[in-house]
Amino acid sequence: MRGVVLAGGTGSRLNPLTRVTNKHLLPVYDKPMVYYPIQTLVNAGIQEILLVTGGKNAGEFLRLLGNGRDFGLKHINYTYQDGEGGIAEALGLAEHFADGEPVCVVLGDNIIENNVRKAVENFKKQSHGAKILLKEVEDAERFGVAEVRGDRVVSIEEKPRKPKSNYAVIGIYLYDSTVFQKIRRLRPSGRGELEITDVNNFYLEEGNLTYEILDGWWTDAGTFDSLLRANNLVAETGANMIPTEELAGRPTSGEVAR
Ligand code: G1P
Repeated sequence: MRGVVLAGGTGSRLNPLTRVTNKHLLPVYDKPMVYYPIQTLVNAGIQEILLVTGGKNAGEFLRLLGNGRDFGLKHINYTYQDGEGGIAEALGLAEHFADGEPVCVVLGDNIIENNVRKAVENFKKQSHGAKILLKEVEDAERFGVAEVRGDRVVSIEEKPRKPKSNYAVIGIYLYDSTVFQKIRRLRPSGRGELEITDVNNFYLEEGNLTYEILDGWWTDAGTFDSLLRANNLVAETGANMIPTEELAGRPTSGEVAR
């Protein structure tokens, strides 16, 4: 299982905060936003991680993360997305890195309280297909929304005006290696992007999509309100992170470890 963090995009909903930096470098309480999705993968037992980013500030990720020492990693991989083709296009850039293995994809602005290790382990037992994680929310129209019947997903709609359920599809996805063929079949949506919801719908049509409900809180951080919410949740209850005091004692990527 390989991990992919998607940290590109213009962050236009956070303008002017994102005018001179990448959204995923903005602070969420005491850490840069991108720390949380990386830690989510590490906590799930995933050590081989690719960060996909883009835009004018891509170099700052290298300065910030180096080889992933803050996460106890020996190494971290990077790739660059030209343009703004959407989440699924960004994931398509991970094909070479995935090298035929299944992938756990985390959107760079998604923060969770707990751990997805159990879902990752369950997905490993599922020989093929995909797994999505759902969370009940009050503002489902902001997200991909899944309608479920028993243990089956029956529909997924991207930002529906009238959501068929309160289950948001959170930005943590588990895919087998056929995901890259599926991405090649996508056509841009109304907002001109290759949508991850369309990828999930291909798996749904094939009958190869499972789901789990996430426990603990989840939030995205891509709007002013959700960024504030993310800051408050992390400050009040803490996400599953290495304490900042502990990180402070570690050499930064620019220093030589003694
Ligand atoms: C994206 C996905 C959406 C998902 C959400 C989770 O939305 O398109 O299906 O529910 O992430 O954070 P976006 O942040 O691009 O609006």
